[in-house]
Amino acid sequence: MNDVTTLKDTAAAETFAEEVSTIVNHGAIAVMMSIGHRLGLFETLAGRAPSTSQEIAAEAGLAERYVREWLAAMVTGGMVRYDAVTARYHLPAEHAACLVRGAPYGNLAVFAQHVALLGQMQERALTLFETGEGTRYDDYPCFHQIMAEDSEQSVAAALIDSILPLAPDLEGRLREGIDVLDAGCGRGLALIELALAFPESRFVGMDLCEDAIAFARLTARNSGLANVTFEVRDLTGYCEPDRFDLIASFDAVHDQKDPAALVRGLRKSLKPGGVYLMQDIGGSARLENNLDFPMASLLYAVSCLHCTPVSLGQGGLGLGTMWGWETAEATLRDAGFGSVERHVLPHDPLNVWFVSRV
Ligand SMILES: C[S@@+](CC[C@H](N)C(=O)[O-])C[C@H]1O[C@@H](n2cnc3c(N)ncnc32)[C@H](O)[C@@H]1O
Repeated sequence: MNDVTTLKDTAAAETFAEEVSTIVNHGAIAVMMSIGHRLGLFETLAGRAPSTSQEIAAEAGLAERYVREWLAAMVTGGMVRYDAVTARYHLPAEHAACLVRGAPYGNLAVFAQHVALLGQMQERALTLFETGEGTRYDDYPCFHQIMAEDSEQSVAAALIDSILPLAPDLEGRLREGIDVLDAGCGRGLALIELALAFPESRFVGMDLCEDAIAFARLTARNSGLANVTFEVRDLTGYCEPDRFDLIASFDAVHDQKDPAALVRGLRKSLKPGGVYLMQDIGGSARLENNLDFPMASLLYAVSCLHCTPVSLGQGGLGLGTMWGWETAEATLRDAGFGSVERHVLPHDPLNVWFVSRV
């Protein structure tokens, strides 16, 4: 152990210790936020007059003792206000604006679920570090639910107004009727959004995970869609020459077994004039460039405990979440696309978008 008496700058050490305490405290707030989101407690509080813990628990149909303790964590975390005289709790409208489903600033409580899920992986992670082995998607409870909530906000909600205009010809072609693949579609909400908007086009979603595809099929059926199908399919080695006019992948390339091989196969699966629309994480391949990247620590943590091990678990390269836009762009160029454009959208600073043409 280091001899603390050799410390040159004790003030700096004390300041750093305070920062570490804050980090640990914020981690606990994030886990409590995640639980509040899952239980619908922020929705219960939003728009409600200051209320007692009994009233809030009764409204939510939950056990008061637990709700009261959760509220205490939210009050000390600065999320909920507390009036000690009346023993009432209140969620200000300005806070609800980023904490409830459909919130105008996006629901940031959705992201807190990643922190809770990381915690659930701790025991497994200890073994992974020792053995270097990988994981399977099934090892992560709720992964597809969290991912779908995440991409519903950042992708599905912005598809028509912000994302499709990145390739100006796409909307007209989709209106006329083209063949579209979503590679690694998860629960398929983005593809369903497109299928609803463009009834003349034909949509196929493919994903490795049966539970995600089952959810996608059910959602499509409940939406009355006849122009979208979903397949359970391992995209390792995928190639169906000249089948699609548009292929999209939303945050689904870096954690594949062999991203470069997948992108090559996707290019060959496009018809002449075809477009590949790829969203991936917008961080840099170089750690030193990511020091100020939004939520960089969360992204590296998700990389360490999810994206890297699921790739390794498929016998893959384990490039990680932060493989970097430079690697992504080089992968697209090496796959032989005639043109590759890179975009960052104002509503989504975490991600990068590539429009690549055959
Ligand atoms: C980060 S998730 C993104 C899911 C979805 N596109 C979204 O935005 O919600 C990555 C997806 O890639 C899928 N995937 C990973 N490896 C795959 C493989 N070898 N074949 C097919 N799908 C795969 C996973 O099952 C997962 O649904």
